[in-house]
Amino acid sequence: MPLENDLLLRTIRKEKTERTPVWLMRQAGRILPEYRSVRNSLSGFKELVETPELAAEVTIQPVDILNVDAAIIFSDILVIPEAMGLSYEMVEKKGPWFPETIKTKADLTHLHVAEAEDVSYTIRAIEVTKKELNGRVPIIGFAGAPWTIFAYMVEGSGSKTFSKARALLYTDPVLTHKLLQMITESTVNYLMGQVNAGVNVVQVFDSWAGILSPYQYEEFSLPYISQICDAIQEVPKTVFAKDAYFARASFNKLDCHTVGLDWCMDVQESRELIPDKVLQGNFDPCALYGSEEEIAHNVKTMLKAFGPFHHIANLGHGVYPDTDPEKVKFFVQTVKEMSQNLR
Ligand code: CP3
Repeated sequence: MPLENDLLLRTIRKEKTERTPVWLMRQAGRILPEYRSVRNSLSGFKELVETPELAAEVTIQPVDILNVDAAIIFSDILVIPEAMGLSYEMVEKKGPWFPETIKTKADLTHLHVAEAEDVSYTIRAIEVTKKELNGRVPIIGFAGAPWTIFAYMVEGSGSKTFSKARALLYTDPVLTHKLLQMITESTVNYLMGQVNAGVNVVQVFDSWAGILSPYQYEEFSLPYISQICDAIQEVPKTVFAKDAYFARASFNKLDCHTVGLDWCMDVQESRELIPDKVLQGNFDPCALYGSEEEIAHNVKTMLKAFGPFHHIANLGHGVYPDTDPEKVKFFVQTVKEMSQNLR
């Protein structure tokens, strides 16, 4: 079925478009009262992720309410560890927590390479979303990058330093690579399942890229992201690696179409380091706490820095939970109007 609004896909194909497409990382959930009310009717986050009809509903909410140019499927990157045999809990006001973690080679015997079927609820949520969206906007599928998933599986929760996960790189590189490879194969199976269910683009989130040294990143993260990009040929791929300013030249060599930038990355310098890719980003999520006037000023600065084409407007990381949805609407509307006028 042809899409009604295919601006995102045309931009990814490097076509000259009438305006810049815009969506927000973590737009599904986090800020909308409409999300909260669905979420509060359930036992918790996981029940929502695992109920396809409701996951589809909260996936579509930002399209209706915020007028973004794409839907990102409501799920979490942590469904992969669970599908491999390591279950997680989402602790209210704290975040993810794994009762068991990976410490030794013996722990790997409890894990398996996941198939898409092991995450059937998200696959089903994509099918329902596809049907209900009826071609209004493209659907973005996603997964965590193997390094970021590894970090949670070893650390067992969020952390400022992820020192347990980073320590394992030194104390047992063999185990490290073995686990990273299992995560990679699981992620490819999962993303292929998402593609077969109808997503139009996939994005890989390497949220904890920035805690590795450039050398470690080359060894423990990039080769696995590269395997994922090579394995998925059916849809365009976006790589977003938070704080990985040192890896930008390497991202240019990946078989991906779009690279996400965080707000600390200079746009001009990034264009030089990543000349072949469409760039996505990089509005500071904190700028949404400013007045409308300030938001408009900062949107203009962003649009001018990226130039009219080969840019997908987005934040430099996920929208923060206490952001006023009205400010987000204003941001989206301003990107749309200004980018058209700047053509
Ligand atoms: O972009 C979207 O809106 C789609 C849905 C989505 C969620 N998580 C839903 C979610 C996506 C793309 C993610 C990715 C994700 N999850 C990442 C990578 C992106 C990033 O922000 O760096 C990471 C590191 C996680 C792990 C995770 N999930 C954490 C640390 C937390 C707790 C803090 C928080 O709210 O983000 C979650 C929970 C989570 N995932 C929520 C949502 C809507 C909040 C749970 C709730 O409703 O209580």
